[in-house]
Amino acid sequence: MKAKHLAALLLSCLMLGGCGNTDSSDTVLHTSIQTEHPQTIRSETITVPPVTTTLPPTETTTITTTTPEETTTTTTTTEETTTTTTTAPPETTATTTTTTSATTTTTTTTTTTTTASSSVTEKVTASNPAAMAVSTLFVSTFENSTYISWGAAANADGYSVLLKRSSDAEWEEVADTSELSVSLAGVGRNKSYSFCVRPYRAGSDGKTYGEDKTSSFPYLTTVNGVTYVDGLLLINKTYGVPSNYAPSVVAAGNGQYCEANTLAAFNEMKQAALADGLSIWICSGYRSISSQYTIYWNYVRRDGSQWSADRYSARPGFSEHHSGLALDINQASRYFNGSPVAQWLEKNCWKYGFIIRYPQGKESITGYNYESWHCRYVGKDKAKLFHENGLTLEEYYGLTSVYS
Ligand code: DAL
Ligand code: ZN
Repeated sequence: MKAKHLAALLLSCLMLGGCGNTDSSDTVLHTSIQTEHPQTIRSETITVPPVTTTLPPTETTTITTTTPEETTTTTTTTEETTTTTTTAPPETTATTTTTTSATTTTTTTTTTTTTASSSVTEKVTASNPAAMAVSTLFVSTFENSTYISWGAAANADGYSVLLKRSSDAEWEEVADTSELSVSLAGVGRNKSYSFCVRPYRAGSDGKTYGEDKTSSFPYLTTVNGVTYVDGLLLINKTYGVPSNYAPSVVAAGNGQYCEANTLAAFNEMKQAALADGLSIWICSGYRSISSQYTIYWNYVRRDGSQWSADRYSARPGFSEHHSGLALDINQASRYFNGSPVAQWLEKNCWKYGFIIRYPQGKESITGYNYESWHCRYVGKDKAKLFHENGLTLEEYYGLTSVYS
């Protein structure tokens, strides 16, 4: 451990009256494990399935960081990788009634405006001056319902909402409404589904449809046993990685390793924090499954039960740290919560492509206690999206985080 880190830890111990009761501190155990097995991380194999971090296409970033200990120049080239495949909904078809399947219940309270006689097949195109399109489409799945909302299309009288339950399923209409949102029950979590909103004008001779807007997720895909949602690598209590999983990682300073784009984003964030007078460093980055095995079972031994350890430590094979996309910043312990750096991260990390993966108050959703230090790299666009909506990955994509 570097002198400055020791000093920071000592300072926080003094301020908090000692470190003897850091019952959920990852730092203490991680440090001792890395000291005991200094070669463990360095010997990891470096090949991976395509890491889909949804970065801007073909972006080249050169980052130079200078610290008293080291000077590092990292050049990374990233290409957007999208594993999500969506099939366009069928061309405009006649809509006669709102269709609800046996397992889907439309709970919208808005008035449906379907007509039994509508059989319009004209599609409004861009060449049509009256073309209609919804501006945005937002889908979020909660425990018992899925909420879909969209931006108004000019001149639209109503919106047809369609659901596709899997990549090879047919589109089915689940709502017909003049409102800008609909709530569905029974769609279900952890499912590969997609939604489409289709604006229309209602005329005496039926409906004239505008452009389709289709949600770009959340077909869950699996590549070499690793799950992706909306192109994002997914690891939580429901979705683990295979035992031979070994992503590409690079040295990240402080004896830590992480995925290359994650490091570039961290270095950018580090400079911004420094400009605000704060020093940040990675206290735990990539962790192999065997490292996590030691960490997790040490906690289980200490606490006397898996039930206790499961609240703050991932079981081996289920830690986001296996991906190299998760970074613990400065101090992985509850004493870090509320600190100036924690507050800064909460407010700013999204600007650099990170999210606080286990936010306060979302313990039952993420499966973990609040961790103000655990930042997950998701790319700037998605980080902004999650930040602005105040949603976790599980909420946004309708996923669970529970061990089977
Ligand atoms: N502390 C987080 C949940 C992990 O062990 O990955
Ligand atoms: Zn962590």
